[in-house]
Amino acid sequence: MSLWNHLVCRPSLIKMHFKCRNAEIPYLNSTIKRLLVPDEKVNWSSEWSSYQATDYTDPSTNGKPWADNDDLSAMRFNALDGAVNRKSHQVDYAFDVNGRPLNPMGRTGLSGRGILGRWGPNHAADPIVSRFKDGRLQFVAIKRKDTGEWAIPGGMVDPGEQVSATLKREFGEEALGGKAAQMEKVWGNGKQIYAGYVDDPRNTDNAWMETVVVNFHDSDGIMNDVKLEAGDDAASVRWVFVDANESLYASHQEFINLLKKAHCI
Ligand code: BGC
Repeated sequence: MSLWNHLVCRPSLIKMHFKCRNAEIPYLNSTIKRLLVPDEKVNWSSEWSSYQATDYTDPSTNGKPWADNDDLSAMRFNALDGAVNRKSHQVDYAFDVNGRPLNPMGRTGLSGRGILGRWGPNHAADPIVSRFKDGRLQFVAIKRKDTGEWAIPGGMVDPGEQVSATLKREFGEEALGGKAAQMEKVWGNGKQIYAGYVDDPRNTDNAWMETVVVNFHDSDGIMNDVKLEAGDDAASVRWVFVDANESLYASHQEFINLLKKAHCI
């Protein structure tokens, strides 16, 4: 059963839609605050006729090659739109009265695109490179430059790019300082552990993050000879033991929990 099914079946896991409801701190790179959405009002099906989320699209995203414009009528949603994948991994999403895609996990207190580039799903990919060290499972983590939190070294899927290529590219850029030699054997050993929605602080009512998480487990000691080196969006890189329970970016702790399960921990 996927994490998504768990969420649908078990409302107690609503914390998946928690980091993108934080109304206490301003939304990233802005002074804008979200409208507070109480737990019982997150689902679109729960009646809230006067709901008026703060509307915000970061002006610095306008005109960027990776960002949409406001002409939503020209976009093909729930579909592959040219090279841009506007399909969700898990649902055919609905639309509001203005034709904007609706976040399938419910209200966030902020409408518009926020800092995200795409209306609807914004696709990322997260490679978890893992190994056992002294009998303990560990994975490669980077420190993100934007929030300063530790995270899996993932990144956005470029238009037309295969997720498998994004996984290798992002790991190379962020954790190997661009030098991806020696990794081919590790890349041959990937197992998908999640595909779907992410509780990302950038999410809004109309734009949200989704990801594919793939575990590349090194059982042959290949990584012992690979020098980790932070690059691109990463300030720092290191191996983290899964049992250290360090706090991680967005839904990454949930992904590490799935990793533990996959390795029977
Ligand atoms: C990050 C991924 C993360 C995704 C969703 C991307 O910017 O690089 O690691 O899973 O956002 O939060």
